[in-house]
Amino acid sequence: MDDDLAATYHGAPVDEAAAGALAAQGLELRRVANARPEADAWLRAVRRGFLDPEPTEERIAASAAANGYRRMIGVFDPGGPMPEIPVGTFASWVTELTVPGGRTVPMAAISAVTVAPTHQGRGIARAMMEGELRVAVSLGVPVAGLTVSESTIYGRYGFAPAVAATTWKIDTKRARWAGPDVPGRVDYVSRDVARGILPRLHEEIRWHRPGEIPIPGSHWDRFTEQNPDADKPGRVRAVQYSDPAGRVRGVVLYSVTENEDDFTKSELVVSQLVAADSHAYAALWRHLIELPLIGTVTASELSADEPLLWMLSDQRAARITLTDHHYVRVLDVATALEGRRYDIPGAAVFEVTDPLGHSRGRWLLEADAQGRGRVRSDGGPDAQGIPVVRLGIAELSAAYLGSVSLSTLAAAGRVETTDAAGAAALLRHRAAPQLSFWY
Ligand SMILES: CC(C)(COP(=O)(O)OP(=O)(O)OC[C@H]1O[C@@H](n2cnc3c(N)ncnc32)[C@H](O)[C@@H]1OP(=O)(O)O)[C@@H](O)C(=O)NCCC(=O)NCCS
Repeated sequence: MDDDLAATYHGAPVDEAAAGALAAQGLELRRVANARPEADAWLRAVRRGFLDPEPTEERIAASAAANGYRRMIGVFDPGGPMPEIPVGTFASWVTELTVPGGRTVPMAAISAVTVAPTHQGRGIARAMMEGELRVAVSLGVPVAGLTVSESTIYGRYGFAPAVAATTWKIDTKRARWAGPDVPGRVDYVSRDVARGILPRLHEEIRWHRPGEIPIPGSHWDRFTEQNPDADKPGRVRAVQYSDPAGRVRGVVLYSVTENEDDFTKSELVVSQLVAADSHAYAALWRHLIELPLIGTVTASELSADEPLLWMLSDQRAARITLTDHHYVRVLDVATALEGRRYDIPGAAVFEVTDPLGHSRGRWLLEADAQGRGRVRSDGGPDAQGIPVVRLGIAELSAAYLGSVSLSTLAAAGRVETTDAAGAAALLRHRAAPQLSFWY
């Protein structure tokens, strides 16, 4: 992690153009301190924006401390009856996005984008987004990312779904385990113990999985119900897998809702399953599928290519829904493309349009036999014989992690290319990307 970049980004002033546009409406854009009481008012605004109830005093107290890693900005309306509560909120932090080849690039992760219903439709969200993206670009952050409440909000800024997620609903009575019988043991552990192990395990796996970012500590607190105002503490169970050498290689967190009409068909919901190797993956899924008194296992934020499907003797026992999940926006084409690795050598020219201008241009990508990419911003002197792809930055962002192929986007009419198969082969990656949480 580039701690200097993260710290500089956290402390950077707000974008002047965005502040100016909002000032023309009598509104004030400013940074919000990660300390009470400013952070409290900001949190109240976020909860209101997401239609949540007023936060409890306990949540407010815990929140200011837990949110220190986030750069928070607010838009304030001095003319309103509660001028201390912002009418617009936006949080972001520089983190690491795993990209193909076991590498990472710095990414501005964005969350808590809200505008009070009384102030919507006035360009407040646009001003905040465009301003914060300019701050990221000015500091050399090559990529931005977010998870979304509605999939239609962010395409206009160049974001695209670059990591799909699947939600699984498994009829466990029908599924029957057909996966391997692995050595090692499976045991219940306390939520405290799981809280201690899970971040380490996730840190271990995220390097191999394009689309992941480090999971902030406050999210682990929530998953393991360690936050002081957990809604129904005690519902979550934790189970770990240890290999024959006694090393813990996986943990699953789940909760169960009893089916009072039929006690043999209770419903289990997985909140996190982190498996550092294939034995841990098989052992934990087998544990879930074979649990007595459970009729349905539901899990979400899984990848589009789970080995689990091939561990069920009846694949139709699993109903799998595919959704858009991690939205990515390339801000700096050269740094982003050079940051990942390529499965095969080759070259392609990308003629990129960008609604915000940051990535516009003609870029030549050349990947060598070691999988390293070099990008020339002049597009190369002569691209003869090299696939040329004309596309928007959203489409390049969609294909960046290998989630969708350029030939699929060409077939969908989203890109134009002289050689769809050639261009697609270059950006393809062997592993399906995944992001195992929302932020
Ligand atoms: C989504 C939200 C932040 C938009 O705020 P806003 O200040 O009203 O948005 P703006 O006025 O700046 O509009 C910017 C653009 O987004 C569009 N837009 C606004 N809300 C939208 C929505 N819900 N879905 C799709 N597009 C939307 C506008 O039409 C406008 O388009 P244009 O500039 O291309 O013409 C606001 O409606 C909100 O807080 N919603 C509830 C919380 C939420 O869902 N936040 C998103 C979390 S991922």
